[in-house]
Amino acid sequence: MLEGQFLKLATLNNNLIKMLNNTLFNFIIMMAKQLSVVCFFILFFTIAASAQDLVKGKKIFETRCLVCHQADGGGVPNMNAPLDGSSNVVGNNIARLVKIIIGGYSEKVPLDGYYYNNVMTANPDLKDADIANVLSYIRTSWSNKATKITVAQVQAAKRKK
Ligand code: HEC
Repeated sequence: MLEGQFLKLATLNNNLIKMLNNTLFNFIIMMAKQLSVVCFFILFFTIAASAQDLVKGKKIFETRCLVCHQADGGGVPNMNAPLDGSSNVVGNNIARLVKIIIGGYSEKVPLDGYYYNNVMTANPDLKDADIANVLSYIRTSWSNKATKITVAQVQAAKRKK
C-alpha cells in the first residue's frame, strides 16, 4: 500500500521534472530566438548606418573636393594631388588629414614624390561628423582600402593640435 503510494509520488515527481525541463528548454529556445532577432537588427542597422556615412561622405566630396581632386580621385598632374593611391590618405596620420580638411593645404612639399602647385581651400565650417564621413569616403574609395574614420577620431585629432 505504502509502496504503491510512493511509486505514484515518484512518477508524479518525474513528470513534474520533465515538465519543468520542457519549460526551461522552451524558455531557452525562445530567448535564443529573440536574441538572434536582436542581433540581426543590430547588424542590419550597423551596416545601414555605415553605408549612410559613405553616402554622406560622397556628397561632401562631390560638392567640395571633386572640382580639384576629380571624381576618380586622380587629381590633376602638377596641380591637385591625387587622393586615390595616396600613401597619406590611407595612412595612419589621421590628425594630419583632419587638419588639411579643416585648414586647407598649400605646403608645397612632395607628396609620394610629386609637387602640386594649386592651393587647397579650407573647410572650417565642416562638422566633426562631416569630416569623419568625407575622410571615410576618400579612404575607402577607388583603389583605397583603409579603415573608416569615426567622429571620436576626428575629435581626438582636433585635440592634438
Ligand atoms: C581648390 C582645389 C582643392 C579643393 C577644393 C580640395 N583640395 Fe585637397 N588638395 C588640393 C591640393 C592642390 C593639394 C596639395 C597641396 C600641396 O601639395 O601643397 C591637396 C591635398 C589634399 C590632401 C593631402 C594629400 C596627400 O597625399 O597628402 C588631402 C587628404 C586632400 N587634399 C583632401 C581634400 C578633401 C577631402 C577635399 C574636400 C573637402 C579637398 N581636398 C578639396 C586641392 C584641393
